[in-house]
Amino acid sequence: MGDLSGKVAIVTGAGRGLGREEALQLARQGARVVINDIDRNDARDAAEDTAEEIRGFGAEALTCYGDCADTNDANALFKAALDAYGDVNIMVNNAGFCRDQTIFNMDDEQFDTVVKVHLRGHFVNMRNASGYWRGKAKQEGSVYGRMISTSSEAAIFGSAGQPNYAAAKAGIIAMSMGAAQLLMKYGVTCNVIMPRARTDMTNSGITAEMFAAPEQGFDAFHPANVAPLVGYLASPEAGHISGEVMVVWGNQVDVLERPRFGPRFNHADGTWSVEALHESLSSHFNAEHRPVLDGFSVPPQ
Ligand SMILES: NC(=O)c1ccc[n+]([C@@H]2O[C@H](COP(=O)([O-])OP(=O)(O)OC[C@H]3O[C@@H](n4cnc5c(N)ncnc54)[C@H](O)[C@@H]3O)[C@@H](O)[C@H]2O)c1
Repeated sequence: MGDLSGKVAIVTGAGRGLGREEALQLARQGARVVINDIDRNDARDAAEDTAEEIRGFGAEALTCYGDCADTNDANALFKAALDAYGDVNIMVNNAGFCRDQTIFNMDDEQFDTVVKVHLRGHFVNMRNASGYWRGKAKQEGSVYGRMISTSSEAAIFGSAGQPNYAAAKAGIIAMSMGAAQLLMKYGVTCNVIMPRARTDMTNSGITAEMFAAPEQGFDAFHPANVAPLVGYLASPEAGHISGEVMVVWGNQVDVLERPRFGPRFNHADGTWSVEALHESLSSHFNAEHRPVLDGFSVPPQ
């Protein structure tokens, strides 16, 4: 079950946190893993530690440093995997960081860098993997491809202090759904996880309290709890699961419902006017009292 012997995986941002646990998980299942992290001293050391730990239990790993969102670095990463192991089967897009700020105080640099590392960081690596798998499927008739993207609940529930991060994470879902549709005919799957874990990223502010380690008992927010889902989605057994978004932490996996239309209003006498919309929608929303956030609702008008 979950055997990845002979398979090759790339994990971005695998020096620390979730990426590290995911790389270890894939290696334990038999994959050869290419560990990417940014080209900074502490990140290089962390990535090398991940690779060493993998080698320590007899699996194969190599490190390839670079910015996950830089096209040249992403191309070099993909090439390093092909040069060393001759194939790529699993692409785990994970790397990223936050620069939190409310929307009225956020500057362009805070917006651009966070959107770049997450959204472009997914895009350039997805482009490489999907193009490679498409070409291989056309040439050889079949291919083994598994794409796993990393979003966040911030994408769908909103996150008041993270307009950059929430928007990028929503874009990742949209991009992954399109890739899932496009690659379905080659048997390639694309899925999205929304993890919760205590890592460097969540180790400050309210998440530090929310995700604190228990003094005893089950450590629900240990990042290792997320990794088995990545291992499963990468496995042969999950070949029929694609286009899904799952929240994962502790002992829990929540599969998100596919988006669907809610209440529909048609104007009986033709196209809408502002007055007719007010008549229909105002009474609907007055009756509904839909909160924007838990504990916060716009008073009925
Ligand atoms: N921890 C959570 O609760 C949580 C919740 C939702 C989503 N996520 C997502 O999970 C992913 C991993 O986050 P984490 O919590 O493990 O954070 P982390 O800070 O522990 O690890 C992120 C890793 O990515 C690396 N990295 C940063 N920028 C990079 C770049 N440009 N190129 C290559 N590597 C880079 C860092 O050096 C680090 O090793 C992120 O995409 C994050 O948004 C985490």
